Amino acid sequence: MAVFRIAGGAPLYGHVTVGGSKNSALAILAAAALAEGESVLENIPKHTDVYVMCRILEELGVRVWVDQKGRFHVDGRGLSRYTPSYDLARRIRGSIYTAGLLLARFGRAEVPLPGGCAIGSRGVDFHIKGFQQLGADVSIEHGLIKAETAGLVGTKIYINRASVGATVNMMLAAVLAKGTTVLENAAKEPEVVDLAIFLNAMGAKIRGAGTDVIKIQGVSKLQPAEYSIIPDRLEAGTFMIAVGACGGEVTLHNVVPEHLRTPVIKLKEAGLHIEAGDSELVVRSHKRPVSVDVETAVYPGFPTDLQQPFVAMMSVAEGTSVVRETIFTDRFRYVDELRRMGADIKMEQDTAIVRGVQRLTGAPVEVSDLRAGAALVIAALAADGETRVEGAEVLSRGYERIDQKLAALGARIAVEGEIDSDGLFAELCHPMRVET
Ligand code: EPU
Repeated sequence: MAVFRIAGGAPLYGHVTVGGSKNSALAILAAAALAEGESVLENIPKHTDVYVMCRILEELGVRVWVDQKGRFHVDGRGLSRYTPSYDLARRIRGSIYTAGLLLARFGRAEVPLPGGCAIGSRGVDFHIKGFQQLGADVSIEHGLIKAETAGLVGTKIYINRASVGATVNMMLAAVLAKGTTVLENAAKEPEVVDLAIFLNAMGAKIRGAGTDVIKIQGVSKLQPAEYSIIPDRLEAGTFMIAVGACGGEVTLHNVVPEHLRTPVIKLKEAGLHIEAGDSELVVRSHKRPVSVDVETAVYPGFPTDLQQPFVAMMSVAEGTSVVRETIFTDRFRYVDELRRMGADIKMEQDTAIVRGVQRLTGAPVEVSDLRAGAALVIAALAADGETRVEGAEVLSRGYERIDQKLAALGARIAVEGEIDSDGLFAELCHPMRVET
């Protein structure tokens, strides 16, 4: 277990380069294995969730290796097994993407029910129903999603909620199906669009990604491709919110400002000054933020993944804000930890009523999930005195060395224990070959 010891109160100044998108990377790594050849992927972040995905693919016979420039090479020629191990699959939600991959390549998949952050009930019913509609027999037995088909056939699939994961999985399965699949009420998140662009570069025929109707005309084979994935809008949003909570001026590089349209609107309402360039955002704040109400929603709404960091910022804002979570049933576990630091937050079912206080005070707190970790780090940066953020290694699931990036901006942050994702990468991805 790792601990961040953070001495709060320092504003953040400087430049930070945002890494590649975790949630894009998880989908695109699985997609790359659809081709019998070697794809080359750039801007893949070295997050522990990404390492686990690589290990899962390796377990299935896919060759994954990283060259000196940090590009990931994924070669699906060796794909020969259809059961990822429970030990790896339970660690990440993205492991469920192997079901779409394996059904498309083999017509057979036995995939453990996935894990991922504990943020409430995370069903798989949309995935299962979609696979069934594509012509697979699907059952859940002994903790495995067992799916089999003599050949997937395109059809119309209405996804009950605009689920990111179900949209991704249907795209992975349908690209090699016979005929045309129409996904209705599809997720519109940038990560879904990124996946569609990559799949089209491989020879898939996908139209409409980014709208709620995606049409996929099945093809018989995909070719490997070279691709650079989008920047992580959630990492970028986290740094912007940190500036709001602590004050300062930070330039974010490697961002797509359009992906952050709603968070930027809300942060401007809270009093931050934000200027957008082509791939930069300059964020400035020299006074206490003011309270703003937020309701999470599917893209282009306010992302659920920034709800926790935003509440941390609202904890020190002037006035009272009402923050409602509509995507996940239990994404407020960090609130008790914020209260230890003096936050005044009242919970009413899916809504946090946050009465901003002048100052939070440092305290020992514990990370329950990835974005909760980001929220606690932001609160600690803004607080008086020292905060011990325990379980800080969880942040490596979706942030690459956030401690170093924050320290470079002037944050006073020390690490106890192991959170080095480079180290984990070498360890976790053994025998993944790293070119020397
Ligand atoms: N849902 C079902 N049944 C399903 C699928 C989803 O009921 O078969 C429900 C979920 O329980 C949830 C809602 O639908 O209440 C939306 O879930 P969705 O499927 O969109 O989420 P996901 O694919 O499991 C991805 C990201 C999450 C992000 C959400 C929402 C990955 C690996 N994870 O999860 O990222 O919060 O979309 O945008 O892409 C994170 O990065 O911290 C994170 C949790």
